[in-house]
Amino acid sequence: MDSSARGKLEAWLHYADDLGLGPFYLDRAVTRFAAPDSPGAPSFAERRVGTPPEISAPPPIPSSPVVPAAARGFSGAPPSGSQRVGTSAFVPAVSAPSLFESTDRVENDSLDRIRTDIGPNCTRCKLHKARTNIVFGVGNPKAQLVFVGEGPGRDEDEQGEPFVGRAGKLLTQMIEAMGLRRQDVYICNVVKCRPPENRLPEKDEIATCSPYLLRQLDAIGPKVICCLGACSAQTLLNTNQGISRYRGEWFDFRGAKLIATYHPAYLLRNPNAKSDVWKDLQKVMAVLGLQPKRK
Ligand code: URA
Repeated sequence: MDSSARGKLEAWLHYADDLGLGPFYLDRAVTRFAAPDSPGAPSFAERRVGTPPEISAPPPIPSSPVVPAAARGFSGAPPSGSQRVGTSAFVPAVSAPSLFESTDRVENDSLDRIRTDIGPNCTRCKLHKARTNIVFGVGNPKAQLVFVGEGPGRDEDEQGEPFVGRAGKLLTQMIEAMGLRRQDVYICNVVKCRPPENRLPEKDEIATCSPYLLRQLDAIGPKVICCLGACSAQTLLNTNQGISRYRGEWFDFRGAKLIATYHPAYLLRNPNAKSDVWKDLQKVMAVLGLQPKRK
């Protein structure tokens, strides 16, 4: 397949992923996170016919570090409007041990130290070949709220800062609508280097880079982590389920509350989904005690 066709296919898969569609998504996610025969992974036949895993009868989770807040009796500000709180019906399908399962916190860690550890010329994964800048992250190092995207795009690669392109401008508007400024929150990505032609980050790239994301989250210690889009939600929640199945739900993540919502790039293509995202952001605001910005 030539690179232009591959780029189009990637973009389409990305779009399907944002929508939470099953078959394409599952094929990719399962290979990303689990050997086909690992516990909880849909069978090859299931994946081929695209049978989505049943939400009401999820595979067992042996020892996941993240459990839906509802299932663990999360006692923070109740996410208003959520129909799922108080039930344990929803559990994401964890298909392999989490990347973060046994990851201890790095003592006395800081964003500066993490940046130094990554180094100015990281070559740990193949994304280094086409990148211009490593896009580490930006914002308040003690932010109560961290947004985690997928990976830098062209504008971000050029400027070395996350979310500065069209999707980034929308994210900035979303942050401001919450009564915050960009510099009040922290913004980063699962992978720090741009995937060529804006393709999805691949399994090995996520595995190589996400430990630095985890250290960033630990070092900042936010109250709320907001995953933007399927890539970051699937990485942090260790699930292969489409984001539309659990967006707006609360999860516990290493002492923080985690919520996933649609990626701003998805909103640019699907403005009707903005109301869902605004509902999710209002849940975040309730937990952080924020009032919406008055016009
Ligand atoms: N999309 C992302 O996921 N991250 C960015 O930094 C920009 C666009």
